[in-house]
Amino acid sequence: MRSCSTSRAPTDRGTHDRLHLPAAARICDRDASRDRHRPRGRRGVRIAGVAVAVCDIDLAGAEETAARIGAGARAYRLDVADPDAVLDRVLADFPDTSMLVNSAAIVLDASLADTSIEGWNRTITVNLTGTFLMCRRVAAHLVERGGGSIVNIASETAHIMFADRTAYTATKAGVIGFTRALAIEPAGRGVRANTVSPTVVMTEMGRTPWAGEKGEAFLRDIPLGRFAEVEDVAAAVLFLCSQGATMITATDLLVDGGNTAH
Ligand SMILES: NC(=O)c1ccc[n+]([C@@H]2O[C@H](COP(=O)([O-])OP(=O)(O)OC[C@H]3O[C@@H](n4cnc5c(N)ncnc54)[C@H](O)[C@@H]3O)[C@@H](O)[C@H]2O)c1
Repeated sequence: MRSCSTSRAPTDRGTHDRLHLPAAARICDRDASRDRHRPRGRRGVRIAGVAVAVCDIDLAGAEETAARIGAGARAYRLDVADPDAVLDRVLADFPDTSMLVNSAAIVLDASLADTSIEGWNRTITVNLTGTFLMCRRVAAHLVERGGGSIVNIASETAHIMFADRTAYTATKAGVIGFTRALAIEPAGRGVRANTVSPTVVMTEMGRTPWAGEKGEAFLRDIPLGRFAEVEDVAAAVLFLCSQGATMITATDLLVDGGNTAH
């Protein structure tokens, strides 16, 4: 999932506003109803008539995503650790931006003893400081234009703990705390801020570490019996950005198949 996009879709201010959808781009470019017979991992959720700015430190990946979305989608190379100059360009290109989705993250798989200060700092910088910097710049824009929606991607690891992921877990708990605090700050000015916390999602980040017996054991604990697909996360993000969610802010929406209910 990429880190940034802008689109026209159901928003707080009507169907012709633009959304800032950083991260959801790759997962929003197909019509799930038409793709019923495709392999699960290739399906997606379609956003009709949206203009999306796809931002990622991996420009080639962002361009590939933007090309798949089509319809005015544009790709930008953006490092969430230092996003302001690029974000200025994005917001100039998409002045009606009304939504931001932050999805960029890295995982540090290391025991506490093996977690270096460099690894710790890099994980905090990308996952938490990056979310802060993106939100600070775009929230100011949203306030200026009279409102909008921010969705930050957290993780179930903020609720149930995994060994050997202290740095990642700390950032995801931080993203939820940060987002709840953000939600009460500009709420009066119409900016909603929520998080989505998935269980394992079938992207590279989820597939490789949870392959084999380790993943099968994990799956046995998930009441709905499967890992999440990207379109499960996209659907939650789209809901939080939709007209149906205009009374929802400061919420963490778990997309975990019931895993954290244990
Ligand atoms: N895949 C899972 O199992 C899982 C589970 C729970 C939560 N999540 C969360 O979902 C989100 C998306 O993860 P994913 O599974 O799509 O992983 P991914 O690795 O496919 O996507 C992460 C993206 O972030 C980009 N990125 C990394 N550092 C960046 C930086 N400094 N600036 C800009 N972009 C940067 C990467 O290039 C990549 O495109 C993340 O926030 C992740 O923590 C994933």
